[in-house]
Amino acid sequence: MTTHYEVHGNVALITLSNPPVNGLGHATRLSLTKHLHQANADDAIKSIVITGAGKAFSGGADIKEFGSPKALAEPNLLSVILALENSAKPVVAAIHSVCMGGGLELSLGCHYRIAAPGCNVALPEVKLGLVPGAGGTQRLPRVLGVEAALNMIVSGEPVKSEMLAQLPGQKLFDKLAQSAESLMGEALALAQSVADIRPLPLVRNLPCKHPNGDAYFQFARNMVGGMSKNFPAPLKCVAAVEAATQRKFDAGMAFERELFINLMWSPEGRALRHIFMAERAASKIPDVPADTPKRDIKSVAVIGAGTMGGGIAMNFLNAGIPVKMLEMKQDALDRGIATMRKNYEAQVKKGKLKQDNYEQRMSLLSTTLSYDDLKDADLVIEAVFEEMGVKEKVFKELDCVMKPGAILASNTSTLDLNQIAAFTKRPQDVIGLHFFSPANVMKLLEVVRGEKTAKDVLATVMALGKKIRKTAVVSGVCDGFIGNRMIEQYGRQGGFLLDEGCTPQQVDKAIEKFGFAMGPFRMGDLAGNDIGWAIRKRRYTEKPDMKYSKTADLLCGKGRFGQKTGAGWYDYVPGKRDAIPNAEVVKMIDEHRKALGITPRKISDEEIVQRLVYSLVNEAAHILEEGIASKASDIDMVYIMGYGFPVYRGGPMNYADEVGLFNVVQAMERFAKNPLDDAQFWKPAPLLARLVAEGKTFN
Ligand code: NAI
Repeated sequence: MTTHYEVHGNVALITLSNPPVNGLGHATRLSLTKHLHQANADDAIKSIVITGAGKAFSGGADIKEFGSPKALAEPNLLSVILALENSAKPVVAAIHSVCMGGGLELSLGCHYRIAAPGCNVALPEVKLGLVPGAGGTQRLPRVLGVEAALNMIVSGEPVKSEMLAQLPGQKLFDKLAQSAESLMGEALALAQSVADIRPLPLVRNLPCKHPNGDAYFQFARNMVGGMSKNFPAPLKCVAAVEAATQRKFDAGMAFERELFINLMWSPEGRALRHIFMAERAASKIPDVPADTPKRDIKSVAVIGAGTMGGGIAMNFLNAGIPVKMLEMKQDALDRGIATMRKNYEAQVKKGKLKQDNYEQRMSLLSTTLSYDDLKDADLVIEAVFEEMGVKEKVFKELDCVMKPGAILASNTSTLDLNQIAAFTKRPQDVIGLHFFSPANVMKLLEVVRGEKTAKDVLATVMALGKKIRKTAVVSGVCDGFIGNRMIEQYGRQGGFLLDEGCTPQQVDKAIEKFGFAMGPFRMGDLAGNDIGWAIRKRRYTEKPDMKYSKTADLLCGKGRFGQKTGAGWYDYVPGKRDAIPNAEVVKMIDEHRKALGITPRKISDEEIVQRLVYSLVNEAAHILEEGIASKASDIDMVYIMGYGFPVYRGGPMNYADEVGLFNVVQAMERFAKNPLDDAQFWKPAPLLARLVAEGKTFN
């Protein structure tokens, strides 16, 4: 049973008990209604209290049921709430903790509500691309007032119960309990005190008005519309709350339902729910059980205080974990620390960090020039120059000094982790932690699993990733891991598009219109075009048959490395990041085209987007088939969290599924016929071809 039933004098206590957050899945709904019926049928019972066991009153819908028929099976949440309203005996919701989504809607169907201070209260449906679907948009404005309710519904953000209790005229809580400890006693007392009061108060009967409704909702639409481009749900939230002020309760409920169902089937809604699930799935590794013991990580060492080392260290300081940094020379340490201070001070200036928190974080940092000082660290992360010789020296040194059981991690972005592990006598303790720049900001962490990496090491760093608020995704060892291996193909397509007739602006604009944060050429300018150049030079010898556009090499030959040199595919004004088109670059591309004897053609935005995105998809299919990624949704997480792929499209794999893999492959076959493209590359990956043949999808 996922609810429990107890009797306290003449009060029935029904406790939701469906860990971890008392999700309102079908079994819970069924057992709640059964217990409600039992209480109503028992003459000795005068009133009823509903509460939640463990760490939540209720977190809302059961995510395990998302998209399955069970989610809507009777009694659905609407029917449960109706049953509460129709209970002949008063029902009190006793809220001791998290009360969100369907959980809050459930409580609004109760006749009375009492909350402990400190509860997180929210209607977060908008974050999943939905409007609240069980009366939240109709009932919350009736108890909180239109504006406060709309703010909560549109933002989806939690608000503390004691804040809500202070809102003038609020009827959300009939009482704020003294404390979480006293809540149950107070709730039972409240239930007894209202046992004989009739008629039973119902939220649906409260008025819902705004004194300047037309003007207010126009203002709300303008604000919300401007902030939620490409996301339909926030504006629908406004519409639903407006309906609450204009229609009778039942008509408002019907309107909310219609919006909910339509959003449920929108591609944006599906993408957001996919990401929500994908993020949770990423931490699960097929052959590493959830109960794998973890190593204790109480202190961290970072080798190298350059661009990455400083940012990496900040992640741990922010999480309260002491960090020791090692460099070769004192001045490199000083420079590294100065950059970290500058970053923190910028946060303090913006009001994002309190001065004493900043000082507290810095106090957890210490520095050294000697490996001997690192020996007690539980985890050491190397972020030195990207050269195998340097990595070899560092890892041999670490192997000598680090205590047994310490985890040895490398932040390498291109080198073979198995080779790095083999420099030590403990390859089982070696792992890749590939942070993205700026490492203190970017959410993505690629966890690179070596051939010999121990399972408990993996389990430990996945948990640690959560602690430092990263989305950790496991990648096997290959050149570029998941993210950069795919981006190389995307970059190659960008080059071919220039050769065939596009300008960098045209390509960037097309893919930015599709929703990418930045097109390939603006991104190249930001990251430094010299990085891609170095990789290509290596490829020319490693893979002489691989076809590349030479335009980017010509650009680098002119020293146009991007923002850092003030000039790349675009020009830059010092201190600004705006990309200004440069006529010389366009001329250079034209001349190169002429030299190759290519007549430029007009290329549609649609072709640009398809070639860029499907190049990611085809490479990803190889990555999946090779087992470098264990699931398609992991690849989506990498691209959403690390590469600016549009959130509302759910990542490249989800997008390909939405387009239909058959259509994706058809387009690839078309691209393969273009003599200026790479026919070999466009051969659909075997996995992709198989999925199409079987009528299946990636996710
Ligand atoms: P960087 O050149 O900014 O910093 C490297 C630092 O390591 C320098 O301060 C240098 O003095 C120090 N160092 C070099 N050899 C050392 C040794 N033997 N002992 C101690 N310190 C030593 O380089 P960056 O960009 O921070 O890159 C570091 C690592 O992170 C590389 O493996 C790189 O591939 C990887 N990476 C870089 C990214 C980026 O965007 N810059 C992104 C992801 C990974």
